[in-house]
Amino acid sequence: MDKDYQELKAWLESTNDQPLETMAGFFEARIDTYEEHMSRWKEHYRWMADLLPESLESLLDIGCGTGLELDFIYSRFPNVKVTGVDLSKEMLQRLYEKHKDKHPVLVCEDYFSCDLGKERFDAVVAFETLHHFKAEKKEKLFRKIYDSLKPGGIFLECDYIAVSQAIEDLAFSECRRRRIRDGIEEDAFVHFDTPLTLEHELDAIRKGGFKTVELVGFLPGDHHTAMIKAIK
Ligand SMILES: C[S@@+](CC[C@H](N)C(=O)[O-])C[C@H]1O[C@@H](n2cnc3c(N)ncnc32)[C@H](O)[C@@H]1O
Repeated sequence: MDKDYQELKAWLESTNDQPLETMAGFFEARIDTYEEHMSRWKEHYRWMADLLPESLESLLDIGCGTGLELDFIYSRFPNVKVTGVDLSKEMLQRLYEKHKDKHPVLVCEDYFSCDLGKERFDAVVAFETLHHFKAEKKEKLFRKIYDSLKPGGIFLECDYIAVSQAIEDLAFSECRRRRIRDGIEEDAFVHFDTPLTLEHELDAIRKGGFKTVELVGFLPGDHHTAMIKAIK
């Protein structure tokens, strides 16, 4: 795991002079190469779709982006009713172009502040979107996700985790330093990875109200991307 720490340190040094980018701005600037870049997680997307229950009828996708996980979910559940939330209009537009025949409900908002409703969904998914935020902020979101699920509903999160406390601490302290340097407020969304350790991520989901929270696992060759399952 020391190798991961050294790699992060080297990457932080090599990007030291780069200004922080806004969250939506980061993805919009790379939109034409985004899906190709994310294709490295193809098997994780397939895995997430496979973990959803056979009885699935309604699904909320937070941070849905261009809908890569939905490509697999729609192929297993062609009639599922999807609501997708994302900060970026352009990412949502790409999703819409791919899946307009499925009539997804697309909401261009911040998932921390938007209303996710009560007992509306059989499942909620979050793929590679939650590794930028502090635990306390995520706990409140997990509570909203919990509330939005029907009884017995499932929450699946597949995301980048910090493989040690030292990595979590280093990323958060560097993010803080760059925010101060660039004059960016604490709560403004910037694209800078600050993953929590697995233990902290699971703990934040439990604090959101979920009683059953478990690590489903990692795919071979990728010890950074955890698949987590929580049941209401
Ligand atoms: C790495 S992309 C993942 C997109 C999609 N889940 C996938 O795997 O292709 C992260 C997405 O989360 C969105 N996002 C980040 N923070 C958000 C927030 N607070 N509210 C809504 N969307 C957010 C970004 O705009 C971006 O589209």
